[in-house]
Formats: sequence, C-alpha cells, structure tokens
Amino acid sequence: MRALKAHIKNMLPQKLMYLYYLNSAKKASMYDLKRRVYDKVYNKSDVEKVKRDLALAYHIVEKGLTMPKPRPGFGKAVVMSLLDTVEKYAEFKLPKHDLEFTQSISVLKEYLHFHEQISFTLDNDLLTRLQTINKRFATVEGQKQIRTNKLDYFKHKNGSFDKFCQSRYSVRNYTNHEVPISVLHDCINLAQRSPSFCNRQPNRVHIVKSPEKKEAILNIQNGNRGFGHLAETLIVLSSVVSTTKDIHERFENHLNGGLFGMTLLNALHYNEIGACSLNWSVSDDKDMKLREIINIPHNEVVLMIIACGYLPDEFSIASSPRKSAEEITKLH
Ligand SMILES: Cc1cc2nc3c(=O)[nH]c(=O)nc-3n(C[C@H](O)[C@H](O)[C@H](O)COP(=O)(O)O)c2cc1C
Repeated sequence: MRALKAHIKNMLPQKLMYLYYLNSAKKASMYDLKRRVYDKVYNKSDVEKVKRDLALAYHIVEKGLTMPKPRPGFGKAVVMSLLDTVEKYAEFKLPKHDLEFTQSISVLKEYLHFHEQISFTLDNDLLTRLQTINKRFATVEGQKQIRTNKLDYFKHKNGSFDKFCQSRYSVRNYTNHEVPISVLHDCINLAQRSPSFCNRQPNRVHIVKSPEKKEAILNIQNGNRGFGHLAETLIVLSSVVSTTKDIHERFENHLNGGLFGMTLLNALHYNEIGACSLNWSVSDDKDMKLREIINIPHNEVVLMIIACGYLPDEFSIASSPRKSAEEITKLH
C-alpha cells in the first residue's frame, strides 16, 4: 500500500502535489485559525482583555524606566492608555490584589516618582491623573524596577538551580566589548542539549555581528527602541520546516525553538552575557526583508531574535513579576 502511494505520488505533476498539500494544510490550519479569530470577535471576556492590556502597557513603561538613558517625559501616550485601563479595571470591580493591577499601579507611581526625582515637569493633564492614582491607591504595592551591578547580577551563575533561574532577567543595556564567536558556540552547544522532537534538532542560529545588518534588522523589529542599537550581537533563531513530516507537526518548529531559546538564554547568562529576547511576530513583508538582509534559507522559519552583549558595570532591569504557581495551575 505504501509503495503504491509513493508510486502514485511520483507520477503526479509537482504543481498538483503542491495544491494537494496546500489544501490539506488549509484544512488542518483552519482548526487553529478559527479558535484565534473566534477569540478576537466573540470572546466577551473583558476581564482577560483588560488584564492583557494592563500587562502590555505597564511592561512598556517598566522597560522605559530601565532604559540605558530614560528620556524625560517618555511614553505619554502609553501612560495615558494605562491610566484609562486602570480605571476600566476599577470600574469592573475586579480583585485589587491581582498582579496585572498591582504592577500597573506600582509602575505608574514609579513613573511619577522618576519625574519628580529628576525635576521634570510632566504635562498637566498627565500629572493630575498620576497624582490622583497615587493618592487613591496609596496602599497598593508592586515590584519596583531593579538597579544592579554586574557582580551582583551574575553572583548566582554557579549557584543552585533555583537561585540561577531566579537571577536571570532580560537585560537591555550592553557594552561594545566583543563577544567571541567561540563563547557563542559554547552557549549554542549548551542550547543544543534541549530536547527536540525525535531528536530531529530543527533549530538553526544566525549570528549577526555586522553593524549595517544589525541596524537593518533592528529597524524592522518593533521592540528594541532605546537599547537595541547597543547589542554587540544579534542572534536570529530559526527552525527548519523540512524537519516536520506533515502539517500536523506545524507547531513543532516554534515549540522546539522555545525550548532551545530558553536554554540559550540560560547559557548566555551562565557565560555572563546579558540578553533580551526580541519578538518576531511580524507581517510577511518584514519577514521577507529579514531574509534578504541575512539570506535565510526558504525552508527555515524565523522564531525570535536575541539581542546580547557584555554588560556595563551598573544597569537597570525591569522587575517583570510573575504570577504564582497556584494562580496558573488547575488540578484535575
Ligand atoms: C518570545 C519573546 C519575545 C519578546 N520580545 C521582546 C521584545 O520585542 N522587546 C523586549 O524588550 N523584550 C521582549 N521580550 C522580553 C520580555 O519582555 C521578558 O522576557 C518578560 O518581560 C519577562 O522578563 P524577564 O525576561 O526579565 O524574566 C520577549 C520575550 C519573549 C519570550
């Protein structure tokens, strides 16, 4: 039966084969696509959406506060929208101890405090709203951004697993000190210890050192403003789609890449290299542009980018607090 199938396959013109695979791929992908589209149109869970919007906005402000050189008055539009979402959350009468809420309030207070400390006068409309929040939620506390130094940041690099894990953060500040390729290879070899489906090892790594290429890539990535230009190295993670057998394995590239990416981040931390993941959730034209810049083979899918480099003596990191195990776990 298998031989007959292969024989028929060989006799079919390639174009017909392509259309056949495309059709079955569309059918399989629709199952997932419909869930996503349904969520965007029909999911009336305002609670989930308001929490998502809080996290999205407070994280941008959190990042702004920890930039190598925070710009006085930065991010007015996003702070205003965070204030709107906080008010919406309060209107819904949702729990005041939920992380998205407490951290949003904490970040807004920190934003106000930062500008008071540098004696920068914020626009009146913004200032009034921030002061109101400050008074109204005087007792609400979140996690402040962290000012640290190289020695302290890496002090658990040879420590116990729990201490090591808790000590890694995304760092968005780098020196121009060269990270040798051999050290990057050491890190990539460690990342290669990550499990992969049937040990098929689909991950690929493109190391970008050329200043022109780094700049061109960062110009089309939407999450590196204020720090990306400092990255001594960009690591573009990709995955070979030809390692998947059929369309039902379509998520394996991203899943395997996620496991690989986490080990790589840990390996960079272990080698005293600061790193920050950069999303590659982009439109197809940007993806095609990236392929032109660094000549990525057609059968590789790009997963994410890691900006990295050796660290300055002192720097700030975004606290990015986590929900507890109890909050995200369901026992069945
Ligand atoms: C897939 C992925 C994409 C990310 N994209 C960005 C990005 O574009 N810009 C950025 O500054 N941080 C980005 N991050 C870093 C997250 O903001 C960070 O991991 C999160 O806030 C948790 O903080 P931590 O890494 O310090 O533990 C990304 C992280 C992941 C995993």
